[in-house]
Amino acid sequence: MVNTAPARQVVRYERARMYPKQEEALFTPERYAIVEASTKSGKTVGCLVWLHEQAALYGGPGRNYWWIAPIRRVAKIAYRRLKLFLPAGSFESNETEMTITLPNGATIFFLGSENPDTLYGEDVYAAVIDEATRVREESWFAVRTTLTATQGPVRIIGNVKGRRNWAYKLARRAEGGGRENYHYAKLTVWDAVEAGIFPTEEAEDAKEVLPEAVYKELYLAEAAAESEAFFQVEHIGIIDEAPTDLRLARIWDFAVTEEGDAPDPDYTVGVKMGWDGKRTVILDVVSRRASPDKVTKLVEVTVVADGAACDQVIEEDGRRKG
Ligand SMILES: Nc1ncnc2c1ncn2[C@@H]1O[C@H](COP(=O)(O)OP(=O)(O)OP(=O)(O)O)[C@@H](O)[C@H]1O
Ligand SMILES: [Mg+2]
Repeated sequence: MVNTAPARQVVRYERARMYPKQEEALFTPERYAIVEASTKSGKTVGCLVWLHEQAALYGGPGRNYWWIAPIRRVAKIAYRRLKLFLPAGSFESNETEMTITLPNGATIFFLGSENPDTLYGEDVYAAVIDEATRVREESWFAVRTTLTATQGPVRIIGNVKGRRNWAYKLARRAEGGGRENYHYAKLTVWDAVEAGIFPTEEAEDAKEVLPEAVYKELYLAEAAAESEAFFQVEHIGIIDEAPTDLRLARIWDFAVTEEGDAPDPDYTVGVKMGWDGKRTVILDVVSRRASPDKVTKLVEVTVVADGAACDQVIEEDGRRKG
């Protein structure tokens, strides 16, 4: 009898050597692992090993794995690094698509996050978001949807960069514990020094030379106090007279619920601002809680009063329209 079953090939997989804290941060059973980490602490390498392992051990024909970097050019660096790590003949690659396909048929895609709309639509079996604090929240939402059908795991890793970003908020949620799907870890420069991948003198020099706030964020993965304030109050003041020669614009944020129709409806607000190249001046604010027809009336009256010298800016789907 002829055996028509496809030949099975046994491939031995051995994980590249991680330093213990790097391995604990990424190779955890939780679906979401969030890592706030120092520069040069092995974020990219660690995540490349993790994503490749996901694809190699659990992948199959047509299964997609995503590597997301803030921009495509940075994703390309990771793509090249993974190609260099992998033994020749153990994968096929496509330069234009920036994909690596493994013998089991799984494909790793390297993508930039510039355009969140391109990050929808596929079923993704595991993903990495590298430099997460530089990736837009909309892109994270998009990636998250691709992992829904597969219940795929994700590794979110980056430097700390202020507190006003989705990655920071997610890290706080994970750090608090009590959520069984989340794992949080921090890797500082001293962890990298201890692991022998970062020179002690370089870490000491950074501490000495850099402003404390910068050193804290980039090397200790701690948010600096300064980044907390969105508005720096010392830069805000009242002036007697608006400067002349301002470039004028009124920026609108719409809401269309009448007061009384809902417990605490939002306001429609139009802020008229001027810019003289150095300073922004707030010249006028109109605000109303009103139904669509009343809002339209308010806009008409205001636009006429502002005159042609004042641009009107309307936010539509999170994007600006002039
Ligand atoms: N487990 C490890 N064993 C040996 N070397 C490692 C290990 N992890 C990372 N490295 C080396 O440390 C250096 C920094 O690694 P990597 O680029 O992954 O860090 P990073 O945190 O992503 O840095 P960046 O801040 O530039 O994004 C690289 O030269 C890398 O090869
Ligand atoms: Mg990196």
